Parts: sequence; structure tokens; C-alpha cells
Amino acid sequence: MSDEVLNQFTPEKEEDKIDTSKVLKVGIIGTGWIAESYAKVMQKMLDAKIVAAADLIPGKAEKFMEKFGFEGVRFYPNDKAMIDAENLDAVFVCTYNTQHAPCAIYALEHGVNVLLEKPFTVTLDEASEIMKAEKKSGKLLSLGFQPRMDENMKMIKKIVESGELGKVYYIQTGGGRRRGIPNSTFIEQKTAGIGALGDIGCYSLDMVLNAIGYPKPLTVSGYKSAFFGTNPKYNNPADAARFNVDDFAAAFIRLEGDIILDFRIAWAMHIDSPGDTIIMGKEGALRIPSTDCWNGTVGGPMTLYKDVAGKQTSTVIPLSPQGDSFGGLFDKKIRSFFDAIKTGGVAPVPSSQIIYNQAIIDGIVKSAELGHEINVVIPEI
Ligand SMILES: NC(=O)c1ccc[n+]([C@@H]2O[C@H](COP(=O)([O-])OP(=O)(O)OC[C@H]3O[C@@H](n4cnc5c(N)ncnc54)[C@H](O)[C@@H]3O)[C@@H](O)[C@H]2O)c1
Repeated sequence: MSDEVLNQFTPEKEEDKIDTSKVLKVGIIGTGWIAESYAKVMQKMLDAKIVAAADLIPGKAEKFMEKFGFEGVRFYPNDKAMIDAENLDAVFVCTYNTQHAPCAIYALEHGVNVLLEKPFTVTLDEASEIMKAEKKSGKLLSLGFQPRMDENMKMIKKIVESGELGKVYYIQTGGGRRRGIPNSTFIEQKTAGIGALGDIGCYSLDMVLNAIGYPKPLTVSGYKSAFFGTNPKYNNPADAARFNVDDFAAAFIRLEGDIILDFRIAWAMHIDSPGDTIIMGKEGALRIPSTDCWNGTVGGPMTLYKDVAGKQTSTVIPLSPQGDSFGGLFDKKIRSFFDAIKTGGVAPVPSSQIIYNQAIIDGIVKSAELGHEINVVIPEI
């Protein structure tokens, strides 16, 4: 077949379907590292435009917008000044964790839709305050868990929902890096609030909780430590001196429905991996390989274990191809947020689910500090 004929079958381009009659006015709060992934997506967006940006560090937002070639953007010294002065349809909250709650609450209280970076917050109380503001405002709040957009991640949920595993009773999840402690704002209480637990632990929890329908956590027995981050032998000495969050956490969590969740996460350890994610059910089990850099992606083909006609079998499920985690998935995370705003749809990653993720993280911190198991109490919203 000639090229001329083949070209007739060029699929419709994604942008052809976008309704550009309304262009959403968007502000970015925090123009640090992750905001770059947002900027790259916004460069291609036809029905939404960055009109304003705020950063606490003078001149940072200006340099950022120049780097990405955005013109006509108005700049502000913080989130409040921007929201007060602008009439925004949406904000991206790209601040470090301790600023998630104040920024998201202020935006929602002023009638602005919010796409909030992960983890939800530092504490469960902050998450519940955000949800109260969300409920009162009637605006959209979506959480920035882009691994949700990954076809392989969707496959885990499809397998559980298909019934192939039968009733799920035990899950092991988490992962980590032999050495991979971040720096900058990730390692101090005043900015990050929580360490590996919030940075990559929230992804491990979401991978399995989303697959099984986000049952409520009931109890948590948690542990956390910081043996590597604080030690100049394993961390840059200047970073080790200011490091005051966790670099490892583990927990045994009871979930509604008589399900046990066995969790571990590490920014650093003396082993290559603390294990794969496994989901065990009465009729089958699933193994999801871990990755070297735990960032919420599936590390290789999954294996489904079942008895078939009296024989023990294992079926390898090939990986679905897709864009890299900071490319294609970010497009989908932002596109789905805008689509929900424009159509009055539901949040792609809703707070009603991620509150349980945050409750577990909060429970691990509290239980670790108390040195015993605690009951999880989800606040009334
Ligand atoms: N989804 C992902 O894949 C992914 C990856 C990395 C980081 N993150 C998350 O993104 C968030 C930011 O991480 P980062 O590495 O970009 O941090 P960063 O420190 O590089 O950038 C945060 C910026 O926010 C600014 N800021 C803080 N409070 C502000 C306020 N009230 N108003 C205006 N600006 C404010 C800071 O000055 C800073 O420039 C974190 O919560 C992190 O967990 C997500």
C-alpha cells in the first residue's frame, strides 16, 4: 500500500477533539521542580492558559516562566496575593508538602478548582480541613497521583475487579531504593513534614488501595527511622545535618473487609529492594515487580498465580507500553482535571479516596511515635 493511501488513515489528533470555546485561566502556586512537568504540558494545552504564577522566592516564578516561554503571565509573592488579585478557574498547587493545606484551602474558599500535588498533606487533620473547604465550595479538588493514569496500574485494578483473585485477604506493598535520598525541600520537617513515607509511600498505598476499592483503614502499627538520611556516611554531610524526616517506614495495617496490608518504603537501605507488591486472594494471587526507583510504576510484567483444573499455574501479563511517568501520565493527569472542570464531572483522583491514604500515613507517624498500634479515626467532613 502506498504512503498516500496509508496517510488517509492517520488517526484523529487529540487536540481536534478539544473544545477551545472556553479557555481556562490557570495559576501555578510554587514554581519549583515539579511545576516544570506542569509547564511542559501547559505549553501544548489549547483550552487552558497559565495567566498567573506565585512563588515565595522573589524572582523565581519570573525566571521559570521565561525558561518555558510563557508570555503575559502576572507574578505574585505568594498564593494568597495571586488568588485575591486574579479571577482564576484553577490552580496547580506545586508547593512542598507543608504548604499543600493552606494553599488548597485558600483556593477552594475563593471558588477556585484545585489540582493538588501528592502527598495529599502531611497530617490527616490537614486533609480533612481541605475536604471541608472542598465540600463548602462545591469546586473540584483532584490529587496529583499520575501513576493512576498508567495502563499497567489500571490493569491491577481490572484484575482484582474481574474476580480472578477471589476475596483479597492479604497485601504486601511498598518498595524503595538502595540509595536514593532526595535533597532540597524534601528532607526537612518545615517543608516536607514527612519523608519517604509521603514522597513515595503514598504511591505504594495508592497502587493497591485503588485496586481493591479503597477500603477504610481500621488500625495501624507503624515504624519509621532515619538511619541513612542523618548519617554523613550515607548522605551528603550538609544534607545529613538538616535531615529530620523519615527515610524508611513500615507498617501492619488492618483494613475494613478483613484485609491485612503489610507496607514498607525506603529512600535508602542495605538491600536492593524490600520486595515486590503482592495481592493474595482466595482464588488467585498477583505479583507486581518493584522498581529500583520507587515512584509508583510497575517494574516489569506482572504474574497471576491460580490453580487451573487442579494444576498450579502462573500467567505472565505483558506490560502495556506508554509514555514515561513525567511525560504522558502528566498530560493525562492535567487533561482529566480540565475535562472534569469543563463537563462538571468528578475529580479524576478524588479526596474521598486519598483521605484513607493520608489516614494510613498519619497513622504510621503517630503509631511510630507512640510505639504501639493505634486505631484510625477518620474525621467527619
Ligand atoms: N507527582 C510527581 O511525580 C511529583 C514528583 C516530585 C514532587 N512532587 C510533589 O510536588 C511538590 C513540590 O515538589 P518540588 O520538588 O517541586 O518542590 P520545590 O521545593 O522544588 O518547589 C516548591 C516551590 O513552592 C514554593 N512555595 C511554597 N509555598 C508557597 C506559597 N504559599 N506560595 C507560593 N509559592 C510557594 C517554594 O518557594 C518553592 O519554590 C511536593 O509536594 C512533592 O511531593 C510530585
